Amino acid sequence: MSNSGESIVITEVGPRDGLQNEQQVIPAETKIELIDRLSQAGFPEIEVSAFVRPDVVPQLSDAASVLGGIQRRPGGVYSALVPNERGLIRAIEAGVQKVSVFTAASETFAAKNTNATIAETIERFRPVVQIAAAEGLMVRAYVSCVVACPYEGAVDPGDVVSVIEQLQALGAMEIDLGDTIGAAEPSDIERLLACVGEIVPIDELVLHLHDTRGGAVSCARRALELGARRFDAAVGGLGGCPFAPGAPGNLASETLLSLCDSMGFCTGVDAAAVADIGQWIRGVVGRCTTTPDQK
Ligand code: HMG
Ligand code: MG
Repeated sequence: MSNSGESIVITEVGPRDGLQNEQQVIPAETKIELIDRLSQAGFPEIEVSAFVRPDVVPQLSDAASVLGGIQRRPGGVYSALVPNERGLIRAIEAGVQKVSVFTAASETFAAKNTNATIAETIERFRPVVQIAAAEGLMVRAYVSCVVACPYEGAVDPGDVVSVIEQLQALGAMEIDLGDTIGAAEPSDIERLLACVGEIVPIDELVLHLHDTRGGAVSCARRALELGARRFDAAVGGLGGCPFAPGAPGNLASETLLSLCDSMGFCTGVDAAAVADIGQWIRGVVGRCTTTPDQK
């Protein structure tokens, strides 16, 4: 127990990243039940949905109903993805507290995911960040493909740094590094954090790991050893990106909670409750996944 008491902040992204990639559209009532149970389990932040084009991601076209139906735990943060000003306006009307813009360190992925160049995504975010700040909303900025792109292969950490600098110049308050296709090895995380850590304190970065054959947990462990203290994870290991072929699920919340516990960190999240939720939601989405391993 070398890290006794130190806190790790976990954003539960299952309701958004987990459900955006399912073939079937999960009913809004089920999403609301999922989010309410995750709130009760103690997650400090839940990424509830996305105000993207409903025809492009129909799985999340009920974002406003879901936000309107959940029970907000006092002190909890309920956030949503927004790709542009149109999405931000919808998100504000639905009552979000925090919005997440998203771009990439790879041009091809940015084009496939957002129908824009990286530079164009940054321009779209300019009014988003300004209006969000005026409304008192927090702003997270995702950078996808920080290790590899499904179309272009390996990504240089220098390209990640360049995108982050542009996001910081806009006023993004939180930078989230997405290993979108779960390509990272612990050595990639070391290289990435060494570079990005020059411009953002490592304990302020968020790591968003997708999982390939259990590799995400080794990456999370290395990141924790190097000082990372904020992570995204999805209950039941759900997740993936419709625009990243082969993108596996997110690092399972159950696995991350177990890892944090084994390293002596505290999360404030009820791991037993999360295990129950994971079992239930995997049943709902009809997945035949095994229970995430408790590494
Ligand atoms: P576009 O077609 O280039 O946008 O879409 P546009 O500005 O040309 O608008 C075209 C039409 O869409 C217009 O309607 C707009 O009003 C409408 P029309 O005037 O023709 O009737 N429109 C919208 N409607 C509702 N809400 C909106 C919105 N925006 C435009 N927000 C856009 C560009 C990015 C919006 C679109 O491609 C899109 O929504 N893509 C979805 C991308 C997505 O959700 N990807 C998955 C999430 S990212 C991810 O999973 C990675 C992450 O997990 C991190 C990681 O793992 O690395 C975060
Ligand atoms: Mg993701």
